[in-house]
Amino acid sequence: MATTSSTACLYTIIVYIFFCFVLTQSAPESALIKEIPGFSGVLPSKHYAGYVTVDESHGRNLYYYFIASERNPSEDPLVLWLNGGPGCSSFDGFIYEHGPFNFEKAKTDESLPQLHLNLYSWSKVSNIIYLDSPAGVGFSYSKNQSDYKTGDLKTAADTHTFLLKWFELYPEFLSNPFFIAGESYAGIYVPTLASEVVKGIEVGTKPILNFKGYLVGNGVTDDEIDGNALVPFAHGMGLISDDLYEGECRGNYYKPLSQNCESKLAKVDENIAGLNIYNILEPCYHGSDPITTSNIRLPSSFRKLGETEKPLPVRKRMFGRAWPLRAPVRDGIVPTWPQLLNGENVPCTDDEVANVWLNNEAVRKAIHTANESVVSSWELCTDKITFYHDAGSMIKYHKNLTTRGYRALIYSGDHDLCVPYTGSEAWTRSMGYKIVDEWRPWISNRQVAGYTQGYEYNLTFLTVKGSGHTVPEYKPQEALDLYSRFLAGKPL
Ligand SMILES: *[C@@H]1O[C@H](CO)[C@@H](O)[C@H](O)[C@H]1NC(C)=O
Ligand SMILES: *[C@@H]1O[C@H](CO)[C@@H](O)[C@H](O)[C@H]1NC(C)=O
Ligand SMILES: *[C@@H]1O[C@H](CO)[C@@H](O)[C@H](O)[C@H]1NC(C)=O
Ligand SMILES: *[C@@H]1O[C@H](CO)[C@@H](O)[C@H](O)[C@H]1NC(C)=O
Repeated sequence: MATTSSTACLYTIIVYIFFCFVLTQSAPESALIKEIPGFSGVLPSKHYAGYVTVDESHGRNLYYYFIASERNPSEDPLVLWLNGGPGCSSFDGFIYEHGPFNFEKAKTDESLPQLHLNLYSWSKVSNIIYLDSPAGVGFSYSKNQSDYKTGDLKTAADTHTFLLKWFELYPEFLSNPFFIAGESYAGIYVPTLASEVVKGIEVGTKPILNFKGYLVGNGVTDDEIDGNALVPFAHGMGLISDDLYEGECRGNYYKPLSQNCESKLAKVDENIAGLNIYNILEPCYHGSDPITTSNIRLPSSFRKLGETEKPLPVRKRMFGRAWPLRAPVRDGIVPTWPQLLNGENVPCTDDEVANVWLNNEAVRKAIHTANESVVSSWELCTDKITFYHDAGSMIKYHKNLTTRGYRALIYSGDHDLCVPYTGSEAWTRSMGYKIVDEWRPWISNRQVAGYTQGYEYNLTFLTVKGSGHTVPEYKPQEALDLYSRFLAGKPL
């Protein structure tokens, strides 16, 4: 009797130790996603989603959606993806850019979109975390409303806390090479977060992250350089006349030096106002009156310019920063898109698929979002937050990170008018690094996919030809190519 019970006891202890071991060694079972409403196939890898509390006392919780690599999860790099805004959810990247699915619009308003596997998903070659940040964005929230007043530095600190806690939940990914990636306003999020991560590594904050480098796409970087980049871009693309370009402003578009220059800039604004600022070649989507290919008055060869390998394009453009609307990112409060437009919808935008899918009750349950009493509805970009740009120019961050040996890829869709490539080309050059790979075409799918220039300290600038603001949305195959080559440390 005694023997039996002590054996049972020992057995229980072994089982307990076994489970403790299993639980501390691998991803939390409760976060595992078991089914995806709208998708009827077999998931090519494991998906997880849930919350990480970054501040217990305030109840500040960040939502993540994590996809294990479809190739080799234990060896492939791990990437954190961030969309910009500020105020935009990283489901933007998940649904419209490089997520695991292509979303096919439902025939009727009530039904769910149909999900198909995306051939060019970034989960083909990496483990990837989509994070809604800061609190108040997407499905992330705080129980204390004062947290919705935030800025660059607090966002970076919170995201760093998120990472440390996330790796405690998923310790099996600690040894994978870790990268941070993002686009648009994440041109600020990425270097500021990378800097927090590096500080943490240097002071020995546990767990130690295996941080290797970062990617920024059409990223906001330096108010003056980005601010001066628009007019030369518009001129080079044939959107404004020689007369507007030359003369009064003398290259100072960001801080106009005269009234004459001001009035020229007003004309520039008039000339570009009707364009789709996220891709000057694409038509503008007009809500109830969607433009179809048949009523675009473009020669057929031109229609191909914005074409992408991705089946089922589901929207015409997205949110981001708007230099042309005269709201450049300067120090201080950065208005969110809804704030800029007084709550009106952003012109040219169609974001129906994301809204329908992410606000569906079954979907929300399946992907472990907070109750509707806590996060009432999902919005692509929110005006719930008040956001301060308080980290200044990113150039000092890039210098610091690259000279410490972290690799950086600065890529740019070359038909984006929102954060034009002319700015990214100028600031990467302004770092004063030696050119080690002189300006040359880079090739994808046996075609010139754009141009690249490599600098010392593993800093690479690269354009994606014919792409708008969100490169993987317009050029998914090329985007997956540049992404996997960069992660693998191969030449671009
Ligand atoms: C919210 O946070 C602020 C700042 O820490 C604090 O002063 C305030 O008491 C908090 N409010 C609640 C309801 O906890
Ligand atoms: C460079 O980065 C390190 C680590 O992030 C930090 O400790 C240091 O203060 C930074 N230096 C400058 C000049 O920004
Ligand atoms: C969500 O709400 C339902 C019913 O309102 C409740 O039963 C459930 O416990 C709540 N879940 C959480 C995580 O709060
Ligand atoms: C550039 O990256 C490669 C591959 O990670 C590394 O071996 C090399 O040391 C880096 N060079 C510099 C200057 O940091």
